[in-house]
Order: sequence, then structure tokens, then C-alpha cells
Amino acid sequence: MSSVNMPETPLRLAVLLSGSGTNLQALIDAVESKQLPGVEIALVVSNNPNAYGLQRALKHALPAIYLPNAPQKAAMSENEARLTSLLHLFQVDYIVLAGWMRILSAAFLEQFPRRVINLHPALLPDDGTGNTFTAKDGTEIPVLRGLHAVRQALDAGIKVTGSTIHYVTPAVDAGPVICREEVSIEPGDTEESLHERVKAVEHRLIIEAVRNLQKKETTSP
Ligand code: GRF
Repeated sequence: MSSVNMPETPLRLAVLLSGSGTNLQALIDAVESKQLPGVEIALVVSNNPNAYGLQRALKHALPAIYLPNAPQKAAMSENEARLTSLLHLFQVDYIVLAGWMRILSAAFLEQFPRRVINLHPALLPDDGTGNTFTAKDGTEIPVLRGLHAVRQALDAGIKVTGSTIHYVTPAVDAGPVICREEVSIEPGDTEESLHERVKAVEHRLIIEAVRNLQKKETTSP
């Protein structure tokens, strides 16, 4: 990790993904259209060789690496050790989990405190903990964590869900929140239609979250 970032030093992001990479695309577009001045996508890593996100990275001449999953035998797996080396090699400041379908170990995360952020397609409480969330209209909704949060929102019969960007801690989907936005669930929504609307919100939120990190970087001593 590079040390203190002077305002003129670009903030270098690694984006970790396993799938389509529409959030990576939102970041690429924001960087290329100068909506995120002073931000660079230093590295894209996928644990899925067929992830379309890898193609998106290559189309924009970004370093893109396929890192296969290895069995998690020790506290930190061999491929987490490889990932660590890559992140250092590419002098990454922040790691964005944008649809990365692999839980990172506590030992890995300890190396990058408050440097790993995740997009979660549901509403999470401010400090990440607790099992209920109070929506803007005052209704209490269950906190939906894990892989199928969009489907769970439909199954729960609730009227609102959303997206949250949060710091990653060893407890899954339970780190402090950076930003969050609600998305209403419409009658007739399917998992696909709802996830599309959630992603449309995420594409804005991820830019807001990165701006927030950049501000933190330039204001912290
Ligand atoms: C997003 O909805 C994110 O919240 C979840 O995975 C999805 C990734 O989408 N963790 P994409 O690959 O960026 O299109």
C-alpha cells in the first residue's frame, strides 16, 4: 500500500470481481470522463476466468488478472497471499469488492484495515450490526446479508430494499457503512428486474463512495 496520499497523488484502486462487472464499468466510465479526478483503476482481479468484468478491464487496457480459488487450508490461503503480493506490486490504496464471490479471511483483512470496501445489494445498518433496519418511511425491515439478498428481499415481502457500500470486516456484510440508498420494490418485480434497479443505484453509489475515500485520504494527517 502506498503511504500518505498527497492531493496530487492518484488514489489507486483494485477492483475484485467474479461476474459481469457493471460496477467496474461505472468506475471506468467515471475515471475516463473525469468524474473521479485523481483516481486510477490500478488492477482488476477475478476469481472466475469467464467473468465479463475481465473483458471490460482489457477493453480499457487495465491490468486484469485471473486468480483461481485455492482451498482455504490455513488462516490465510495461498491465493490470498498471492493476492496480497499483487496488491502491493500494483501499489493499491483501496480494494473494491464489486461482486467478488469469495469471503476474505480475517488474516487477509488485517493487512488492509479500512482499505477494503464492498457493495452489498441490500440495506445495512450504519455500524453494520443488528438484524433490523429502519427505512426512511419508518418501517422496520430485516437486514439481508449473504449471497442472495435480492431474492431474500422479494421473499420477505418487504416494500423497500437498496444498496449499501461498507468497509469490509471479518463478519460478512457487517462493516461500517460508507453510503447507502433505498430502492423500492415494485409489484411484479422479479429477482432480475429488482437487481437491475439496485445495480443502477450502485453505479452512482460506488462513485460517491470512492469520492468519500479520496476525501478521507486528503484530510487525514
Ligand atoms: C452487485 O449487485 C453487488 O451489490 C453484489 O454483486 C453485484 C455485482 O454486479 N455484491 P456487477 O458484477 O458489478 O454487475
